[in-house]
Amino acid sequence: MNVVLLGPPGAGKGTQAKLLGKARSLVQLSTGDMLRAAVASGSGLGRKAGDVMERGELVPDELVIGLIAERMDQDGKASGFILDGFPRTIAQAEALDRLLAGRGKRLDAVVEMRVDDEALVKRITGRFACADCGEGYHDPFKMPKVPGVCDRCGGTEFVRRRDDTEEVVRARLMAYHTQTEPLIGYYGPQGKLRTVDGMADIDTVQEEIVEALDGKG
Ligand code: AP5
Repeated sequence: MNVVLLGPPGAGKGTQAKLLGKARSLVQLSTGDMLRAAVASGSGLGRKAGDVMERGELVPDELVIGLIAERMDQDGKASGFILDGFPRTIAQAEALDRLLAGRGKRLDAVVEMRVDDEALVKRITGRFACADCGEGYHDPFKMPKVPGVCDRCGGTEFVRRRDDTEEVVRARLMAYHTQTEPLIGYYGPQGKLRTVDGMADIDTVQEEIVEALDGKG
């Protein structure tokens, strides 16, 4: 099964993709994670993408399409993909159709996660992660059990994403509403679109996604 998780910044795409990936043995393809890795490595692609990401704008289509194509080939034996943060434009959606068709696959469902803009700003500006293992936290929704110590690895260094300031989050939301929301009109007529309430708690959202994918939603 190949599924797109569609939603604004902070909707919970990454959180839900990880849960669903484990439950269904699907490979998560996150263009945000791939781009951050490219920036951290200092590659040519990373240098092109870094400034754009810090402004909260979208990286050019051809760069992210190339990244997804490469990862699909690396994970060619996967039973399916969960696309988290891709596609974000109509051109990317059309490219995804071609990439899947070229590998004898198809897109089965698109799950749109709806969350209020103001709730998103709170979610994102509170987010931080362990610098050693990447475990995600949130102030105040999910703090480490022992203050200052990672629950998973015991690390004591934490990091925040450079694009998680309020100003940049608002630019990311603008990019979502203008460039990504039109995908709802692209997938709706294809009968692939399911919508879940992303305002519910994490477990409830996961249940709703599973029900939507199993045809009950
Ligand atoms: P990307 O990394 O994809 O960021 P995003 O879409 O802005 O989404 P986030 O990662 O911020 O949020 P999320 O929806 O995954 O939520 P999460 O689960 O983390 O992209 C970053 C940048 O890269 C873009 O701005 C762009 O520049 C570039 N880019 C990436 N893909 C691109 C593409 N295809 N084309 C062009 N450019 C691209 O949750 C957020 C927080 O909320 C966490 O703290 C979490 O614990 C908490 N949370 C999650 N669910 C809930 C819940 N139900 N209730 C309460 N808290 C919750």
